[in-house]
Order: sequence, then structure tokens, then C-alpha cells
Amino acid sequence: MRKPLIAANWKMNMLRWEAEELARSFLEKVPDLTEYTDVVLIPPYTVLDVVKGVIDGTNVKLGAQNVFWEEKGAFTGEISPGMLKDSGCEWVIVGHSERRHVLGETDDMVKKKARAALDYGLNVIVCVGETLEERESGKHIKIITGQVEIALSDLELETPHSLVIAYEPVWAIGTGKHATPDEANDVQGTIREITGNIFGDKATDVRIIYGGSVTPDNIKELIGESHIDGALVGGAGLKAESLAEIVKLSGE
Ligand code: PGA
Repeated sequence: MRKPLIAANWKMNMLRWEAEELARSFLEKVPDLTEYTDVVLIPPYTVLDVVKGVIDGTNVKLGAQNVFWEEKGAFTGEISPGMLKDSGCEWVIVGHSERRHVLGETDDMVKKKARAALDYGLNVIVCVGETLEERESGKHIKIITGQVEIALSDLELETPHSLVIAYEPVWAIGTGKHATPDEANDVQGTIREITGNIFGDKATDVRIIYGGSVTPDNIKELIGESHIDGALVGGAGLKAESLAEIVKLSGE
């Protein structure tokens, strides 16, 4: 049985005082629920320490939004997996569509990041997803298959529960238009098949989650009517009430 995962990606939001207030207020609202659901807060690098200070001693985990694949050296502006661990992170997102489309991250870079992070013992959320144009032209399965196959190729998967694939259709991110359970199921099935081909039996423990306009109003429909194992939440994760509600509903 795969434990549901709710990960809140705060993106480029939150000053120190805001991060502290949000993390505190969220924790007050979900004091004892995380035994049913894994919960990860993923703030910007600049407030990792603030959030860590608030969640220390709870079941809520800390994550980062990106990582570089080298250990250290002349890579101005980059952060290594070891640095993330040193800052208290247990999770990291790689290949978010904003990094792919705004910052030009390629499938090959995503693969290197995923491998480096897993090698360092971080839990990794690999994001994949198609654009509206790709979906409308019926190419979405082909695009997602390519993204997943490249990201996971040659990966030694020692701890399958450390790997999470997030299906995040680009057209659903921040738009208020989420995928239907059927659409999520369809892609989830494809990803499940690919991970099975690559990892064999170990793939059973790999979680496949959904991201894109997840809110308290649609989380039950998405999780209950599909085979997805949780959600990567953007906008709704910036408010304690809505994030707490999503966590509660996902554990019911
Ligand atoms: P959203 O973002 O929930 O605001 O659509 C999701 C994401 O980008 O991970």
C-alpha cells in the first residue's frame, strides 16, 4: 500500500516572516494527521532554515525546489544535494515545468539531477507533463513517455519509495483548470507501465502523484476516483487553511 503524499511547492514566494507564519499556522491545523499522509513543505532556499525550525519534531518534512548534480565547485548560483541535506532537506523537486519552460531545463539535466539527489539519499519528485498544444495534438502520451524514460534511464533504484513521479500538465498549473480523474488515470497508467518496465517489481512502491490547480474542492475527486498517490500543490499550498484541508481530505 503506497502512502499518499501531499507536497506543497511554495515556488518563489514567502519572505522569512511569511514562511514562519504559514508553516506555524498550517501545523496548528494538522496536529496529528500526517501518519496517514506524507506531507512535505517545499519553500524557497532562503527560508529553508525558517521552515525547518517550525517543523522540527513533527512528521512534516522539508524539501527544496531544485538541485544541481555536482557535489561542489565552480557552479555559481547552484546548490548541491549535500548542501540540501545539510540544510535539513529530505526531499527535492526536479524538472518542474517552470524550470523546463522558463529556465530551459532539458530531460538530460532532469535525469542528472534525479540521479544525484537519489544517490545522496534525498527523496525525489520528478515532474513531467505536456503543454496544451501537445495535448490538443494528441502527443501527450508520447511526450510524457519520453520525459519519464529519459529521467529514469540507468537509475539504480535502491529505495523505490524515495522516487515520486508528479504528472503535472502544464495547462493545469496555476490556471484553475485541473485534469479530470480520467485524464490523470490515463497518464498515471502510462507512467506505471514505464516504471514497471524499468524497475520491475520495485516499481510497485514508486508513487505517482498529480499536480495542477489542486484545491480542497477537487482533491477528493482526484485522489478518490483515480489511482494517483497524492498531489503536488502550488497556489493552494500558500494558505494554511487550504493546505491543511487538502492534507486532511487526502488522508480520509
Ligand atoms: P498550482 O501549481 O497548484 O498552483 O497549479 C502546481 C505546481 O506547479 O506544482
